[in-house]
Amino acid sequence: MKWTELSKNDLLKLRGDAQKDYADCVSKRLHLDMSRGKPGREQLDLSNEMLSVLNDPAQLIIDGVETRNYGELGGIRQCRALFADILGVKTEEVFAAGNSSLSLMYDTIAKAYTHGLLHSEKPWSKLNKVKFLCPSPGYDRHFAISESFGMELIAVGMNEQGPDMDAVEELIKDEAVKGMWCVPKYSNPEGIIYGDETVRRIACLKPAAKDFIVMWDNAYCVHEFEGDFVPFKDILTECRNAGNPDMVFEFASTSKLTFPGAGVACFACSEANMAYMKKLIGVQAISYDKINQLRHVLFLKNKQGVLEHAKKHAKLLKPKFDAVLSALDEHIAPLGIAAYHRPKGGYFISLNTLPGCAKRTYKLMKDAGVVMTEAGATFPYGIDPKDQNLRIAPTLPPLSELYSAMEALCICIKLAALEKLLKF
Ligand SMILES: Cc1ncc(COP(=O)(O)O)c(C=O)c1O
Repeated sequence: MKWTELSKNDLLKLRGDAQKDYADCVSKRLHLDMSRGKPGREQLDLSNEMLSVLNDPAQLIIDGVETRNYGELGGIRQCRALFADILGVKTEEVFAAGNSSLSLMYDTIAKAYTHGLLHSEKPWSKLNKVKFLCPSPGYDRHFAISESFGMELIAVGMNEQGPDMDAVEELIKDEAVKGMWCVPKYSNPEGIIYGDETVRRIACLKPAAKDFIVMWDNAYCVHEFEGDFVPFKDILTECRNAGNPDMVFEFASTSKLTFPGAGVACFACSEANMAYMKKLIGVQAISYDKINQLRHVLFLKNKQGVLEHAKKHAKLLKPKFDAVLSALDEHIAPLGIAAYHRPKGGYFISLNTLPGCAKRTYKLMKDAGVVMTEAGATFPYGIDPKDQNLRIAPTLPPLSELYSAMEALCICIKLAALEKLLKF
């Protein structure tokens, strides 16, 4: 029976049981971390061959390019071709850089502020107000970038097909709305794949701001952990066909394929945007780490190689996601006190507690020794209006620890729900 339908007496008894379970849980003195989407150690070990794949100085010169030296600002052609293949864009549309796509995103926004984008009348720093659309729940670090530049963050709801496009189409009539964050495939945290119609509507937007930018963070483009690779529309072509060739910057990296601390990141954009950006980036850098780019090309080879490598990750990740879902299916779903998604890729499971229970659940977990992503973090300014979203990141802990963490989480969700229900 659903807990929302129980009598006060039943709830009181259940709360007594839950308090006892929670005290037992605390007494175990757990020390677990389910807070960030980091690959586990076994996943990192999958790419150790990268350390030896480049073993002869003769390899360092590729197509006449000396990878040890300055030059090739946009990255070696083979690495750009690899990303182009994965993203379904042209090699000339790809800029391969250092290890972090997040810093490329930050840089893009920073350049909008300092110099303006290709179609900006003036740098954003000269404007009174800049607003940015933040589909929520979403990736806290995107929101943090926007917030750090002083933008006004506007939360847009998410549905099963991606951002609420009716709301987006309305909001972009405001000239101060300069852009939008998107994680189109296995969105962080909900694991949603944007529907074709959503992608089409985004590409067809006619914003009042001529320099509106879609920040298309395709971080999980080949990151299925269940089933085969799911092909996905190329946003550059969609925007070009819709007459908006310069409206989008796409980002990706090998962080969750090889090493997050030593991978390769890229952005992809129209050739006009590329020429504009290269001019600006050329002032800040002479070139990026081409040796690491080469290492990645030698190790991953091509899209087929990437997909095969992704399957190895999937083998390690699937049991972890299964562990989370089966704990929730068994202990939480029948009680009707939380709802959650069942993603087939990406790095997270998004869980909605009863309204008003996320912060309390987070606190109970913390006090029991399990760190989660802070409640609210998945919303602009860290404020979840319904206080119900929690992001579960199951990839880092070993499976044995994950079982303990999930046992604790189920206990905490129950206790927080009972406390809430008894308040009414
Ligand atoms: C949606 C999303 N984008 C970007 C990143 C970070 O990417 P990178 O390691 O390339 O900076 C993450 C990391 O968790 C992420 O979830």
